[in-house]
Amino acid sequence: MRKKFLQWIEINSNAFKNNIEQFRNLIGSTKKLLVVVKANAYGHGIIEISRLAENYGVDWLGVNSLEEALIIKKNKVNLPILILGYVQLSDLPEAVENDFHLTVYNEETIKKLGEITSKRKKKVFLHIKLETGTHRQGIKEELIPFIKLIEAYPYLSVEGISTHFANIEDTTDHTYAQIQLDRFNSCIKLLEKEKISIPIKHTACTVATILFPETYFDMVRVGIGIYGLWPSKETYLSCLLRGRKPVNLQPVLTWKTKIVQIKDVPEGAFIGYGCTYKTTRPTKLAVLPIGYYDGYDRKLSNFSYVLIKGKRAPVRGRVAMNMITADITDIEGVKLEDEVVLLGKQGNEIISAEYLASLCGTINYEIVTRINPLIPRIII
Ligand SMILES: Cc1ncc(COP(=O)(O)O)c(C=O)c1O
Repeated sequence: MRKKFLQWIEINSNAFKNNIEQFRNLIGSTKKLLVVVKANAYGHGIIEISRLAENYGVDWLGVNSLEEALIIKKNKVNLPILILGYVQLSDLPEAVENDFHLTVYNEETIKKLGEITSKRKKKVFLHIKLETGTHRQGIKEELIPFIKLIEAYPYLSVEGISTHFANIEDTTDHTYAQIQLDRFNSCIKLLEKEKISIPIKHTACTVATILFPETYFDMVRVGIGIYGLWPSKETYLSCLLRGRKPVNLQPVLTWKTKIVQIKDVPEGAFIGYGCTYKTTRPTKLAVLPIGYYDGYDRKLSNFSYVLIKGKRAPVRGRVAMNMITADITDIEGVKLEDEVVLLGKQGNEIISAEYLASLCGTINYEIVTRINPLIPRIII
C-alpha cells in the first residue's frame, strides 16, 4: 500500500496513544482533554488524527474554522467540536445546524445566533473567550452584560469560558502568564458573585498543562504536545527548574520519500537553481521528489540533511518547488527508490522538527503545520 506513494507521512498511532496517556495522567480523570486538531492536526492529518483521538478516548476536539469542523463531521467522528476561531455571521446557520460549539466574543455574533436559534428552535452551546492580556480574541470589562445578552435568547447556552496565554511557551519567566491567570480567576470570582455558573472553564495549552496544574480548571486544550513535540526548550527547562517530572512525549510523525534518480557528477559541478553549490570532489547525488511546495522550506537549501540507509545525506543546492538533491557519496549501496526520511527517525539517526526549525529560524509548530495537506497520511 505504502509503495504507491512517492512521499508520505507515517503517523505512529502508538506514539499518539502514549502522548494522550501522558496528558491524561497529568490532568487526572475528572478533567476533560480537548485535542487541538486545527491546521490539519498540526500537519498530521485532521481526519486521521480526529479518528485516532476518538478511538483513544479523547473528550473534545478543537479546530480553528468551520471548514475544519465540517471535515471532521463529514468523516463521522462523533466527538464534540469546539471552533476556537471566528465564524462569519453568514456561516453561523451552518455551524448551528451541525451542533458545533462556538467561541464567542462579539455582540454581533450573539445577536445573529439568537435570531437563528429562535427561528429553528435549536440550541447552541457557547464558550466565551476572555481577554486577559493576549490581545487577540476576547472580551474584557463587558463580561456580565455580554452574558446577560446571551441569556436574553432562549436557545443560547453558555457552556464554557476560556482564555489563552500569550507568553508561556518560549520563556522560563512565567510572570505574565500568572497575571493572565489572575485576571481569569477574577472573572470567575465575579461570576460566582453574580451566581452565574459556567460548566467548562478552560485556559491551558500544552505548556500550561505540563507546568501549571492551577490552569486546568475543567478542561485542557492540548496541541503540540499531543503530537509528541515539546513547545520549546524553555518548557523542558522550566519543568526541571520547577521540579516537575518531564512528560515522556513521543513524536508521532515521520515524513518519508523515495529516491527518483541517482547520478554521478564530477568535481566542480554546480547543483540546482542559482548554482549555489559547487562540488569539491566527484559526487554521487540522489534526487528526491519533494520541495518547498510540499512544506520543505527553501531556507533548508544547502543546510539540512536527509536520512538514507540510516545515514545523513546532506542537501546540496537549493530546495526547488518539487525537488531536492542529497549527497550520497559516502553512503554505500544506495539504490533507486530507496526510502528516505526527511523528518523523523531512521536507524540510529533522527531529524527532529526542532532541528529543521532551528535551521529555518522558526519553531517546530511551523515546520509540521506547513507540510502540504495533500501528502498522504498513513497510520501505522
Ligand atoms: C486557543 C488555543 N488553545 C490551545 C492551543 C494549543 O496550543 P499548544 O499547541 O501550544 O498546546 C492553541 C494553539 O495555538 C490555541 O490557539
